[in-house]
Amino acid sequence: MKKQNTRFETRAIHAGQEPDPATGAIMTPIYQTSTYVQESPGKHKGYAYARGKNPTRVALEKCIASLENAKYGLCFSSGQGAEDAVMKLLRPGDEVIATDDIYGGSYRMFTKVFEHFGIRFHFVNMDDPKNVREKINERTKMLWLESPTNPLMKILDIEAYGAIAKEKKILLVVDNTFASPYLQNPLDLGASIVLHSATKYLGGHSDVVLGATCTNDERLQEQLAFIANSCGAVPGPMDSFLVMRGLKTLHVRMDRHCENGKAVAEFLRDHPKVDKIYFPGFPDHPGHEIAKKQMRNFGGMISFTLKGNSMEEAFAMASRLKIFSLAESLGGVEPLVGHPASMTHASIPREIREKAGVLDSLLRLSVGIEAKEDLIEDLRQAIALVPDLKPSKVNL
Ligand SMILES: Cc1ncc(COP(=O)(O)O)c(C=O)c1O
Repeated sequence: MKKQNTRFETRAIHAGQEPDPATGAIMTPIYQTSTYVQESPGKHKGYAYARGKNPTRVALEKCIASLENAKYGLCFSSGQGAEDAVMKLLRPGDEVIATDDIYGGSYRMFTKVFEHFGIRFHFVNMDDPKNVREKINERTKMLWLESPTNPLMKILDIEAYGAIAKEKKILLVVDNTFASPYLQNPLDLGASIVLHSATKYLGGHSDVVLGATCTNDERLQEQLAFIANSCGAVPGPMDSFLVMRGLKTLHVRMDRHCENGKAVAEFLRDHPKVDKIYFPGFPDHPGHEIAKKQMRNFGGMISFTLKGNSMEEAFAMASRLKIFSLAESLGGVEPLVGHPASMTHASIPREIREKAGVLDSLLRLSVGIEAKEDLIEDLRQAIALVPDLKPSKVNL
């Protein structure tokens, strides 16, 4: 049976990987080498220098590409390394339209690095594709979106943006970090490039930083590979191995992230001290119907605000949690809580982040794969200590 025609779960374990030709080792070895011996100049086994290509990395690239239903994959030293390479496809004067509810690190790179090189960014509320159409002009070269978005779990209609990108002959880049390829495949919905912080669900164990791009477009792949080799933001073989190992359980972990995410979201929704809850699995979530159309399940990421919107109380709750750890990042087997306004989104000016809905008391949970009862109990004890709010304390 050809492995590439198999189902997701089988490809997660096998795609891109063959027993090592030298020894039969079932696991792809960590080819810890910087260079490869050539028989005569230019005559080698397909590998010349490890910045350009490394067998451990190549196996991972094939595996990620297979999971994204892509012809081509490329790995980078981090998600930001992948974003940096994608941005270098552009030229001074080009314009990008990106979602306003974007990962803070992407916002920082776009505005503090690439604007200096003459690229212009428009951060737009992408709930309605009309808002994007209005901004497109002859200099627009790229649409950039995440779905679900970080941290407000907005669901953007990837297929609608794919159609706009096709019509206008521009690129659509989708950061698929939050959903993972197990829940969503943006290339099938019209994206030109799908991007991952593999640091998150793909790696899954909070022990590695790595990024990836996938595409079906040979020219884009060539350009990205050229940039990766020229600029050098490539991952080491050990890190590639760790992500490949993580991928083998992606489907099993994601099923549990989704199950636990739903249980935790239901607990929070019913809690009297919780104000707003952002979870695409709820039928009253504005993006629920689109999520049902483009995702296979709703994931393990949840954000919520506290009644009264006090930053101090959000801090207090986050630091009282015992199983959830207060930390940047997401997507590992263990649960994390983050405070976007002071952590991931601290680089976004206050009025911009508040306009986008990132309020002071917003907490974001990356729900782990432990017993859901224990996770809920942890949240219950931490939130129980948030004082009942008197109207005078409400500072909304
Ligand atoms: C949605 C999203 N994209 C990209 C990144 C950047 O990835 P990395 O930290 O691997 O550079 C992150 C990191 O948190 C993220 O959450």
